[in-house]
Amino acid sequence: MIKVKYDVDESLLAAADAIAPAASAAYEQLRSHALDYTGWVDYAAGIGESDVKAVTDIAGEIRSHSDALVVIGIGGSYLGARAACDFITGRPGHGVEILFAGFNLSAAYHSALIARLEGRDFSIVQISKSGGTVEPAMAYLVLRELLIAKYGEAEADARTYAVTDPESGALRAEADERGYRFLPIPQDIGGRYSVLTPVGLLPMAAAGIDIEGALRGARDAAADEDTAACLRLAAVRHAIQDTGKTVEVIGCFEPSAESFIQWILQLYGESEGKDGKGMLPTGVSFSRDLHSLGQFLQQGNQIFMETLVDIEQPETDLVIPEGAGALFAGRGMNEFNRAVRDGVTRAHRGAGIPVVTVTVPDQSAYSFGKLAYFFELTCGVTGLLMGVDPFNQPGVEAYKKEMMAILRG
Ligand code: PA5
Repeated sequence: MIKVKYDVDESLLAAADAIAPAASAAYEQLRSHALDYTGWVDYAAGIGESDVKAVTDIAGEIRSHSDALVVIGIGGSYLGARAACDFITGRPGHGVEILFAGFNLSAAYHSALIARLEGRDFSIVQISKSGGTVEPAMAYLVLRELLIAKYGEAEADARTYAVTDPESGALRAEADERGYRFLPIPQDIGGRYSVLTPVGLLPMAAAGIDIEGALRGARDAAADEDTAACLRLAAVRHAIQDTGKTVEVIGCFEPSAESFIQWILQLYGESEGKDGKGMLPTGVSFSRDLHSLGQFLQQGNQIFMETLVDIEQPETDLVIPEGAGALFAGRGMNEFNRAVRDGVTRAHRGAGIPVVTVTVPDQSAYSFGKLAYFFELTCGVTGLLMGVDPFNQPGVEAYKKEMMAILRG
């Protein structure tokens, strides 16, 4: 079960109580599929055995001939897979190394990636719902050239995979033309809600992660208790926004959860930041950022709330050595990390910051699936409460238009 702890003023909880009926109505609206792009709400519950098998078959093929898989994508076609691969510690399927490309246009980044692939057997998968996003399209062309130089055209085609819209787009057309093995992105699911579709599942399966466990987690998260927790969190976030807070600082205590925080930033940012509304989501990793942004958080302009993602039982622990002295020696590092968590919460609460802590039991695929679904549902409901469409992202187009105008001269 996902646990949510609220270190906030009683008045905020009372305000959230008043919002609760609207949150339930928003949830019913999502479940009814009256809105576009709500396929994610019950995707994990409805996925068929053959859909899972299609993913595991391709992942098995990749593992049979490659040491590394380059996942090419950006935004929702990248962040979820990265979050899963960093967060989930168990690898029962002994997977390949997952590398990422296509989320920037840095020549240095892609050159270093090419150097890293030197002498290794690798495959690429291009993930793009539209099939035409510039950054991944460029990375694809660069990596395809590398594949052809190493293996020749026919084998390069056999080592190229596509995850895209089943019917439209340039990538779909190219996959058909060259015979790439292909997995569909459900048409009623947008990028940032797609981590538990082939978009995230294929890289996860190739990495050896138990994808059925992740899907089971998402299914269980849709059960009553976790759903109630999502609706409550959505109501509290909305109540906090109503008090004038304009920033949500989202943090973790394990570096392996940092990519998950990046995923939440996109989920919240693209879903809620529109029509002049929303709290700007920003990420921190503790203890690191307690020694940089910590000062601001404690005593700076109080424009923010905090959401902390906490792992109850991290994968490993370490015993503090004797040299640490009587108070510390022999105790686990995780105990210290929990003391940081509780100390930060107490100090920040003392400064008047609303602090919400979302705790997941461990770093299993099952817990990841639960956590991802938990934040998706919280986000969808909060967006509807705010009166925005949480499933579009019209603002993302603006930079692309300017970039193309600059390139055309
Ligand atoms: O959440 C979204 O829909 C976006 O962030 C997209 O995932 C992102 O823009 C990439 O688009 P595409 O998958 O079409 O390449």
